[in-house]
Amino acid sequence: MLIVANWKMNPETLEKARNLAIEIKNKKRKFGANKIIICPPFIYLIEISKIISQSVKMSLGAQDVFVGDGQSHTGEVSPLMLKSSGVSHVIVGHSEKRSITDTDDMVREKLFGSLESKLKVILCVGEKERNSEVRYFDEVRDQLSSALNKLPKKYIKNLVIAYEPVWAIGKSEAMEPTDLHEMNIFIKRVLTDILKLKEVKIPILYGGSVTKGNAREIIEKGNADGLLIGRESLKVENFLELISSILS
Ligand code: PGA
Repeated sequence: MLIVANWKMNPETLEKARNLAIEIKNKKRKFGANKIIICPPFIYLIEISKIISQSVKMSLGAQDVFVGDGQSHTGEVSPLMLKSSGVSHVIVGHSEKRSITDTDDMVREKLFGSLESKLKVILCVGEKERNSEVRYFDEVRDQLSSALNKLPKKYIKNLVIAYEPVWAIGKSEAMEPTDLHEMNIFIKRVLTDILKLKEVKIPILYGGSVTKGNAREIIEKGNADGLLIGRESLKVENFLELISSILS
């Protein structure tokens, strides 16, 4: 099971970030077959990479990336910079980035540029709201096809999808597992069409208010292949309990 810890703009100091990473790493033996990907802010990546030393059980991810044209791009970080700093995964298209800067075209550029640089990409998709008009399926399909259309087959093994309904992020309750199950089936069908696959082996994670209390149900009843976790990944005890709760 893939567990992505999205620290967002946390913790507030490097010292706290180091401590958090050390506490998680020290429990590595108890992760079972789970793989944890820690995604700290850019500024902490190199320090955290020294602590977690990449292994089958833990790796380092970035929360964003920029794919430029070789010209001047003040404030941005390229896939190659990430790769050479010990990063193996990058989150692309998180709704919090989509809401301030990232258009569908930018998400596609980031995804292709990162895959070309041999990073693994966690592509986030998810509808903004859910109402009776079933439009949310179209929204998710459009995001997937805009990002993945004509993706060369050789990149598929480095792709992970994180389905994150925007209305469930940062809230007190996650999505109902039965609704998630339905969406997972839909996403698999869309991926089969867009990528012209016979069978979809791309992991589909769920994100949005996952806690130690609901993680197991989301995986078992929602059929998720893993989780993308925000707030709960910053509380060490809860995060470690969450990991043990999904050991099979
Ligand atoms: P949350 O965040 O777990 O705090 O809801 C999830 C996310 O934004 O990836």
